[in-house]
Amino acid sequence: MCGIISYIGKREALPILLDGLYRLEYRGYDSAGVAVVNHDGNVGHIRTTGRVDELASLLAEHPIQGSFGIAHTRWATHGAPSVANAHPHADCKNSVFVAHNGIIENYAHLRAALEREGHKFASETDSEVLAHLIERALVLVGSAGTLDDAVSEALRHVQGTYGIAVVSSRHPEKLVVARRSSPLLLGIGDGEFFAASDSSALLRHTRRIVYLDDNELAVLTPKGYEVRNIRRKPVTKQVELLTGSPADIEKNGHDHFMEKEIHEAPEVLRNAIRGRVLHAEGTAKLSALDASVEKLSQINHIIFLSQGTSYYAGLVGKYMIEELAGIPAEVVYASEFRYAPPPLNEQTLVVAISQSGETADTLEAIREAKRHHVPTLAIVNVVGSSIAREAGMGIYNYAGPEIGVASTKAFISQLAVLSLVAVWFGRQRNLSVSRGREILEELQQLPHKAEKVLSMASRIHTLADGYASHEHFFFLGRKYNWPVALEGALKLKEISYAHAEGYASGEMKHGPIALITSGFPSVVLAPSDSVYEKSVSTIHELKARGGKVLAVATEGNTEIAKIADDVAHIPQTLEILSPILTVIPLQLFAYFIAKKRGCDIDKPRNLAKSVTVE
Ligand code: G6P
Repeated sequence: MCGIISYIGKREALPILLDGLYRLEYRGYDSAGVAVVNHDGNVGHIRTTGRVDELASLLAEHPIQGSFGIAHTRWATHGAPSVANAHPHADCKNSVFVAHNGIIENYAHLRAALEREGHKFASETDSEVLAHLIERALVLVGSAGTLDDAVSEALRHVQGTYGIAVVSSRHPEKLVVARRSSPLLLGIGDGEFFAASDSSALLRHTRRIVYLDDNELAVLTPKGYEVRNIRRKPVTKQVELLTGSPADIEKNGHDHFMEKEIHEAPEVLRNAIRGRVLHAEGTAKLSALDASVEKLSQINHIIFLSQGTSYYAGLVGKYMIEELAGIPAEVVYASEFRYAPPPLNEQTLVVAISQSGETADTLEAIREAKRHHVPTLAIVNVVGSSIAREAGMGIYNYAGPEIGVASTKAFISQLAVLSLVAVWFGRQRNLSVSRGREILEELQQLPHKAEKVLSMASRIHTLADGYASHEHFFFLGRKYNWPVALEGALKLKEISYAHAEGYASGEMKHGPIALITSGFPSVVLAPSDSVYEKSVSTIHELKARGGKVLAVATEGNTEIAKIADDVAHIPQTLEILSPILTVIPLQLFAYFIAKKRGCDIDKPRNLAKSVTVE
């Protein structure tokens, strides 16, 4: 949600900032801007509404030179997308420039106070108060004070969340950044330094990074960097190495990141499973859990916390855990948990599921759980992200960067990790070695089976073209495939803007079926599992009312083709693992419908990849 990139060093800042903005654009794309300072203290400050491409065109006409600066791509919270509301924001003297991610909760009060003191505001944003607070603080700290002193002083007044980057024309050769509950990391180069809200903006320049923690501030100059805490005491930070390659953040021949990421399913499955299967014991090797066996043996209640696609992964995880380990589990939106947590005790395990590891609701929910002293586990894709670092235990997905705003490969990887977790807990309880082994062996077959599903992409393309003109859809599934129905509907609405509802098949007749008229399309998940007969009944109920049905069924099933209008097949697999395969045709279906409808697939309207505000 919003992206920040900043640079200080010996090279021209602008190309680096622009490239960084392109990498961060998936986090927000309502408007964008830069502020670049040169050694004489002259500032080039250019902002525009729309995409980074528009900013790049403007900058091509009005190039700005200088070797340090800040840039921002915005996802609007306070104030509509407009040039005035775009970041960086300036103080009254056009001297201090601030790019901000997060929300300043007491901004109305601060703004009123600053206006009474004579400050003139140019935008409707909460963020602009930061520029004026720093302007005021610079007067307070006096001529002996530094820009960093002023930023510290300003932040004392702020309630809410922030990741900020600040430059000032009166303090050349200095960049100040700070964070509280909004991601920010430093990139350490050779005589040059970066700060960004996301490592994807840094990968091309350096692999050496420093993660800032909450309430830390860093001062960057061309000579080095220094990190301080809220009491202005220096903090020694560890330099960590980014993994992955710049190719991970390219489309590699695909039309869209989403398409590329759907096709990465086999690879992400291999990465999630690698080194985590113990054949002889029929269990999973998960070091975070292995290190806490005793504590986890006491667990009698599991709560999954997540949002969006990760929430649906949690719904599958609940069924897996309950079936294999017999531990009652529930799935709660992190945004609800924070304000209405269910009763918790030390025998409850809270599991956060998050691709980005930065979703504000999920991060705050984990903090809430920690306040209740319950054990916490994070299943996170982005290495070093806030949730990964704050949870008591962690398991990484290792799915690599996911750039398409609509999550695809991360979901598949989450399901693979959840099945490992469920087997692990099962084997700690009553799950037999042979059943554990059976699940793990089948899990190892899934990369190959996912390849088979993907090899049918062109058939799904043809099918999707036939459905692309519909404006309303149902997605129906039962048991393990109910969450897949929800995810299929979410994918379609996110990227094609068609209205899609996901339902548990059994719920269909309690209301939604009233909407079925001649030709109304439904996608029904009907793999050959323990509820297959019920799924067939659902298809009959839809067909009896004139509905049009696309079924997802298991290879070799000839019955479904006789009742459904269209069928997409998946290879035979275990019921518990079937969502990993059934979701792939649904991802492709949404992708091809959106493509046919000419939608901006990787940057859908109003959405952001990582929602770092509540
Ligand atoms: C946003 C994204 C979704 C994602 C959700 C949770 O809404 O657009 O694709 O599922 O956040 O994100 P997380 O990173 O916590 O999995």
